[in-house]
Amino acid sequence: MTNKYMYFIANWKMFGGLNSLNSLNRVINFFNKFKKSKFVKIIYCPPNTLLESMSRKLKKSRIDVGAQNCHEQENYGAFTGSINPIMLKSVGAKYVIIGHSENRKMGETDKLINLKIKSTLKSKLKVIFCIGETLKQKRKRMTKKILDSQIKLGLKKIKNKKDILIAYEPVWSIGTGLVPKNNDLLETVKYIKKKVKNYKVLYGGSVSSNNVNQLKLVHNIDGFLIGGASQNSKKFIDIIKKTYN
Ligand code: PGA
Repeated sequence: MTNKYMYFIANWKMFGGLNSLNSLNRVINFFNKFKKSKFVKIIYCPPNTLLESMSRKLKKSRIDVGAQNCHEQENYGAFTGSINPIMLKSVGAKYVIIGHSENRKMGETDKLINLKIKSTLKSKLKVIFCIGETLKQKRKRMTKKILDSQIKLGLKKIKNKKDILIAYEPVWSIGTGLVPKNNDLLETVKYIKKKVKNYKVLYGGSVSSNNVNQLKLVHNIDGFLIGGASQNSKKFIDIIKKTYN
C-alpha cells in the first residue's frame, strides 16, 4: 500500500464558513513536505459558498477543489437556487460529487444523476459518482443488485471512464462510525471493478484516523471519500499519513 496512488476527498457537506479556510494552512504545509505526496491526490469539496475563496487559497498547492452537487443542465437557465457545472468551473471546481446518498434520499433519481454526470463531463469537470446500499438492502442481501442498478442507470450511455471516480459509500456507514468488514469491502469493490472495468473505486463512510489502518489493507481501494473527519485538518492529515505508514 505504501506506494499506491490514492485519492483523499474531503466532503465538507453543509459545514464551514470563511474562517474554516484557515485550517487549510496546516494541510498545505503538511502536503508540501510529505515524502509520498506524488502518490496522493487531495480534493476538497466545500459548500458552494466557499468554492471561490478556497480555490484561490489552494491555487499553488496541488490540492484540487470540487463541488458537492450541480444542476443537470449544463447551460444557464431559469432554475432558482441551482448552479450548473459551468458556474462551478468558473469558480475553480475541477470535480463534482454526484449521486451522494444524502441527495438520493431527497429524491435524486438514477436518471437525474445520469443527466448530471453527462453535463458535468461536458463541462470538462470530473465526476465523483457515489453509489451504495442502505442497511435494509444489505440485510436483504441486495447489495450487488442495488449497485448494479445504480451503476447501470447512472452511467448509461457514458463512455468517458478516465474522468469518473466511483465512490462506494454504504448508506449505513455514513456518519455512523460503522465500516464494512475488510473482506466484505474487498469483495464489493472487486465486484464493482468487474462490472465497470478501468474505473477507480474509492471507499466512503466513517473513514477516520482510527480505522484507516484497517481500511488501507483492502488493497483494491483507490482512495477515500471523507466526511466528518475531513473538517478537522489534523484528523484529515492523520488519515493520509497512516495510509502511507
Ligand atoms: P462520513 O461521510 O465520513 O462523515 O461518514 C462520508 C460521506 O458522506 O461522503
